[in-house]
Amino acid sequence: MPVLSDPELVEAQSAGSAQAESEASKASIKLGRAIVLTSGKGGVGKTTTTANLGTALAVRGARVVLIDADVGLRNLDIVLGLESRVRHHLLDVLEDQVDVDEALVADKHTDRLFLLAAAQAREKDDVVTSKMQALVSSLRERFDYVLIDSPAGIELGFKNAVAGADEAIVICTPEVAAVRDVDRVVGLLGNRFRPQLVINRLRPQLVRKGKMLSVEDVNGILRLPLLGVIADEPEIIVTTNRGEPLALRAQTATGAAYHAIAARIAGEDAPVPMPPVSKPGLLERFGSLLGGKRR
Ligand SMILES: Nc1ncnc2c1ncn2[C@@H]1O[C@H](COP(=O)(O)OP(=O)(O)OP(=O)(O)O)[C@@H](O)[C@H]1O
Ligand SMILES: [Mg+2]
Repeated sequence: MPVLSDPELVEAQSAGSAQAESEASKASIKLGRAIVLTSGKGGVGKTTTTANLGTALAVRGARVVLIDADVGLRNLDIVLGLESRVRHHLLDVLEDQVDVDEALVADKHTDRLFLLAAAQAREKDDVVTSKMQALVSSLRERFDYVLIDSPAGIELGFKNAVAGADEAIVICTPEVAAVRDVDRVVGLLGNRFRPQLVINRLRPQLVRKGKMLSVEDVNGILRLPLLGVIADEPEIIVTTNRGEPLALRAQTATGAAYHAIAARIAGEDAPVPMPPVSKPGLLERFGSLLGGKRR
């Protein structure tokens, strides 16, 4: 598969963004923001973050549309609990089979949140970049935020997810491989996307013991504006299986962390909450009673 060079990517994005801006200024429409969530490495939490952030932004009163750009491997619909409502998908819209309104699925938990699902039985390369740009441009006229869930990798699927976006959120887990991949992606994105960082799946206990990279370790390498830090949270797996993003429970520490990210995106000067160090489990407590041998 072809890997994109930086100029190709910037050129594709600039064209889409410039087109959207000139059309909007002609009609004096205030455009929403199109933000791609990406990472390079797979399985680090792009889809989970997209669902939770979209939910948090909508709960705060914004109109939000989520685009699952992971063509062939869709799962944003599952995380949102919307899989039984999906009738049409992104490629149906891009190929003019249906109108975008026929394909948008309304969220069942939150007003103002909509999903455009990915096609399951198609290939990432089936997406025509210019069509994707035009779609994102038109959605920016109707929504405050268009969040685009990118596939892993830096090939065409990534390029199509980025086309039409104006900003990027990069998701990184505290692992050396993930940091290296984010570094590569940030290099490809360039400054125009003003990439901001979310560190996902942090385990403060392990950081304390020197067994996991800390926020400072990760961002000492990446040096990006830090948007948020999300704990490694067993409840995420439960809520994903139920199709109820944890951001619906803003009173939980992790739910609140997603809301803090939403607040910062909306321009508030909200602090970045650090995941709390949870109480030690039974094994850990007995381990320390036995002279700290169990580590
Ligand atoms: N903060 C978290 N705590 C615990 N588990 C998490 C967290 N974030 C994501 N996960 C889990 O990690 C797995 C991968 O998450 P997700 O699908 O969001 O990653 P992704 O980056 O979108 O993956 P892909 O590259 O395959 O699209 C899922 O099982 C998800 O439930
Ligand atoms: Mg995903």
